[in-house]
Amino acid sequence: MSQPSIGVAVIGAGMAGRAHASGYRSAPAVFATELPEVRLVAIADAHEPFAVDTARRYGYQRAETSWQAIAEAADIDAVSVVVANEDGQAMADHAAKSDRVAAVGFTFRRSPAINAIRQQVTGGVLGPVTHFNGHYWCDYGFRPDAPMSWRYRGGPGSGALADIGTHLVDVGEFLCGPVTSVRGTILSTMIPDRPVALGAAVGHAAGVPVSDVREPVRNDDIATFTATFANGATGTFSVSRIAYGLANALGFEVFCSGGAAAFDLARAAEFTIADGTPASEVNGYRQVLIGPAHPYITRGLPMDFPSVGHGQNDFFTFQARAFLDEIAGLDRLPRCPGLAEGLHNLRVLEAVVAAARGDGQAVRVEP
Ligand SMILES: NC(=O)c1ccc[n+]([C@@H]2O[C@H](COP(=O)([O-])OP(=O)(O)OC[C@H]3O[C@@H](n4cnc5c(N)ncnc54)[C@H](O)[C@@H]3O)[C@@H](O)[C@H]2O)c1
Repeated sequence: MSQPSIGVAVIGAGMAGRAHASGYRSAPAVFATELPEVRLVAIADAHEPFAVDTARRYGYQRAETSWQAIAEAADIDAVSVVVANEDGQAMADHAAKSDRVAAVGFTFRRSPAINAIRQQVTGGVLGPVTHFNGHYWCDYGFRPDAPMSWRYRGGPGSGALADIGTHLVDVGEFLCGPVTSVRGTILSTMIPDRPVALGAAVGHAAGVPVSDVREPVRNDDIATFTATFANGATGTFSVSRIAYGLANALGFEVFCSGGAAAFDLARAAEFTIADGTPASEVNGYRQVLIGPAHPYITRGLPMDFPSVGHGQNDFFTFQARAFLDEIAGLDRLPRCPGLAEGLHNLRVLEAVVAAARGDGQAVRVEP
């Protein structure tokens, strides 16, 4: 072991910060035991009550109110930065010059079902994808009185596209390889202003009282576009934060050279597949229950057999474990994507925005 222990901290105690805090807490319990001791050291949030509450709930030693307190602490080795989206180019440039482990949380890469489908695409019965059709539909912005927050501030492309479209694009590339061009973008803002929140809010700020003052919204409630992947596959993408009745609906179909598969996050522990077997008289999509034969399950869940269920919170545990493993010099799980991959994702999103302004021509994604 390169280190006797790893002290961890989380900056941002909002919705996703809590998932990171919980992930670090669970990470030593999964997969194997040779990880160095993980010390749950600090949670920082600009809004002190959030930091205090998260530290208490997840068993961290202290709460802080500034990221500087985390950066300067001698007892912290690993940090998750879980605040509003930041300057990706500056972060990637800095990471490239550093010998520290720096990673991006593309959490859906830790989905056992998405990995199981990927195995069938890259070396199994499905073969290469010819068409990826994906959606990420949420309804956190459906009500015109959902309070203003960082999610609604910024220009076109910084809305639903950056918040949830980023994950859908990454899932598409995880299965199909890199996007090389995009076209046909529509970015729509359907609710042009939002009320100012009267209190501090977590995540989508449900239930927070609002004032009569409204701020304009200029970023996207809905984003749709098409893409071409390097292998020639076609991608069709649909993203919304005002999709009534769907709180967190990520799903996709992949049509491949040897069959097809589909995934729905609401049924995270299963997927459907059609691959020409058994005999054609009874062929069709069939349900595959995720279990020990699939990635991440054996020793990744307390009860590691089919039908016990798992979901997005577990992906954070697997992600935290992979990050801690890499810091400890262990190489068991697929590594977290580096900041260069995060920057590439932003380049795809930039091209999507450029395609909304253009004349219908494809916009190349800068490599
Ligand atoms: N991987 C995933 O599945 C996933 C899911 C949700 C959100 N996210 C990402 O996580 C990030 C945070 O999203 P969220 O939903 O948790 O937001 P949030 O608004 O719930 O929480 C953000 C928190 O950061 C705090 N904060 C802001 N600036 C700060 C600073 N400079 N120092 C300390 N604290 C600060 C705020 O007070 C707030 O409590 C975003 O980048 C979002 O895109 C990822």
